[in-house]
Amino acid sequence: MANTKKSTTTAKTTTKKRSNAGSKKSNPIVITENKKKILFVASESTPFIATGGLAEVVGSLSKALAATEKYDVRVVVPLYSDIKKEFREQFSYLGNIYVHLAWRNQYCGIFSCVKDGVTFYFIDNEFYFKRPGCYGYYDDGERFAFFSRSVLEIMPFLNFYPDVMHCHDWQAALAAIYLKTNYCFREEYQFIRALFTIHNIEYQGQYSLDLLGDLFDIYGAYQHIVEYKSCINLMKGAIECCEKFSTVSPRYAEEIKCEYYSHGLDPIIRRNEFKLTGILNGIDDVSYNCELDTHIFANYSAKDFEGKKECKKQLQAMLGLPQIPETPIISMVSRLVSHKGLDLVTNVIEEFLQSDVQVVILGTGDSHFEEFFRKLSEKYPNKLSANIVFNSDLSRKIYSGSDIFLMPSKSEPCGLSQMIACRYGTIPVVRETGGLFDSIKPLQNGYTFTNYNAHDMLFVLRQAVNDYKNKEEWTKLMRRACTTDFSWAHSAKEYESLYLNMLK
Ligand code: GLC
Repeated sequence: MANTKKSTTTAKTTTKKRSNAGSKKSNPIVITENKKKILFVASESTPFIATGGLAEVVGSLSKALAATEKYDVRVVVPLYSDIKKEFREQFSYLGNIYVHLAWRNQYCGIFSCVKDGVTFYFIDNEFYFKRPGCYGYYDDGERFAFFSRSVLEIMPFLNFYPDVMHCHDWQAALAAIYLKTNYCFREEYQFIRALFTIHNIEYQGQYSLDLLGDLFDIYGAYQHIVEYKSCINLMKGAIECCEKFSTVSPRYAEEIKCEYYSHGLDPIIRRNEFKLTGILNGIDDVSYNCELDTHIFANYSAKDFEGKKECKKQLQAMLGLPQIPETPIISMVSRLVSHKGLDLVTNVIEEFLQSDVQVVILGTGDSHFEEFFRKLSEKYPNKLSANIVFNSDLSRKIYSGSDIFLMPSKSEPCGLSQMIACRYGTIPVVRETGGLFDSIKPLQNGYTFTNYNAHDMLFVLRQAVNDYKNKEEWTKLMRRACTTDFSWAHSAKEYESLYLNMLK
């Protein structure tokens, strides 16, 4: 790949050349007539690059839609250097164009590959994306402005104009904004409809208004579209510009109309309420399947949970916990940040550890939480195992080897872990918020509590630990959890009707 790639221009390149004059190889994509064309625009997607739930949703929803054979589904993401070589080797180089944004004129290489019926495009610019990780740089605004602009600029190059451009989170918000402010006046772009999905309203893409023209290339006349509380707010801009917007559970769609959950955007959400839908995410139920998963110590099924005992035994051995089958393991696989409910946990965990339980933590996050769990595991080495890493192999061993899964989030747009836990017969204890409320029903497939209160959580957790002793009833509960349908089949249909509704 290296020898086909041209060197990247720097941010200061000022040449006026705008034509798509780069080299162009023939596009290997089969043009699928009569199918509705859906283009996902996102900052990450499985299996190529993932830092969280967003990637899982983009990867698995696009796959589910393609499987219906009714849609030509394509996904565009940046070509980060963290995308592994084994994937890069499968990519073909389609060519390059130059993307104009304010005074910049930047190289944009286009790579592609087809996976599970979905065509993926990767936007290459080493200046912006040849860095470790996906986010957290001082120039993220510029990086994702370039990415979003590239999405619109590669359309003529690919001769692909989607019916629906489905943009995810603030990093793709500008694609919806540019479509409305610059591109929809051109013939080929006029029928593209934009859907904007909010995976987490906390991250809105806020910048100083001074950057409007210079960085984002938005005309002064359009300032009101992106301006909010004296700043540029890209999420707000996308909500204003899109045909429809959605979020990842019906409950969260209601919650973000309120100040408590909206991170300041509730007036905008309420004003645009007529465009809003909440669709619960699914999970990839082939990947998360206790019968087939090769990462776990033993396979088992909802009919026969025998293998789960082995998973537990080996997990305890691996983590240095006493191998006692009767002691319930309560696990958390989570980013260690406050809105995941860590304040509640740190408040009462010592009290909880006095009973006959084992606790397993997996995840990274705020250093004070990381430190808290490290110290606690030194104090209670036989009761608490703190794994301050992100490790997807270990996460599956924990999902399968534990008995109860704790997810006490303060807010949770959807949450995937509670569904994954269910798939492995591990019973979730969740707070009734967002997608946790929509997916976990008390005594049907888990336990819930309403108020964001440490002792309310502790009370329900103790109830679960107590019920665990009743093997017969607990097995029935495990069976119900394990067989709850969290596949994309249902949710993908809801997206289909949303798309069709937009295209009317
Ligand atoms: C974000 C949300 C999470 C959701 C995921 C996928 O990470 O915080 O709740 O499940 O996006 O939509």
